[in-house]
Amino acid sequence: MSNKNDGFKQEVLEAFQKVSPSAVYIEKEEELKKYVQNLYTLFFHHLKFPPSLFRDKKVLDFGCGTGEVDVVYAKWGAKVKGFDFNNISVDRANGLKDLFQLTDSLDFSVGDVDTFPVENENYDIVCSHGVIAHVPN
Ligand SMILES: C[S@@+](CC[C@H](N)C(=O)[O-])C[C@H]1O[C@@H](n2cnc3c(N)ncnc32)[C@H](O)[C@@H]1O
Repeated sequence: MSNKNDGFKQEVLEAFQKVSPSAVYIEKEEELKKYVQNLYTLFFHHLKFPPSLFRDKKVLDFGCGTGEVDVVYAKWGAKVKGFDFNNISVDRANGLKDLFQLTDSLDFSVGDVDTFPVENENYDIVCSHGVIAHVPN
């Protein structure tokens, strides 16, 4: 990767470390209900991808941010590996994993899209929300 791209990525990282746009306060029951309903509408009605298809699937979420979406995938029955280069977001994702007692279903780590090792793993579903626009390569 060129220095120009490294500089761009550093700026993106610093911006997301100041404010993570993915954080939704699903710790509050009402917020969680609304969030799950919005995702259900997105998947079922708009993407025509029934949430039941997540059941027992192995999912990779790259650029998982603060992990709220992965909490919902886990509630829909998936086992999710999520990674993000923002350690602050990954800390929150791990907090949500503990809060919702999803330690068997969620695995979050710090990683960069350009270097995250995927070669030796198989996934049923690979997803990413709002990330590619921020990745220069
Ligand atoms: C708009 S947020 C979306 C977060 C999450 N996917 C969601 O929908 O809630 C974009 C995310 O991409 C991550 N990101 C950007 N470039 C990345 C890279 N090169 N490697 C890993 N994560 C990256 C940011 O840290 C941020 O969490």
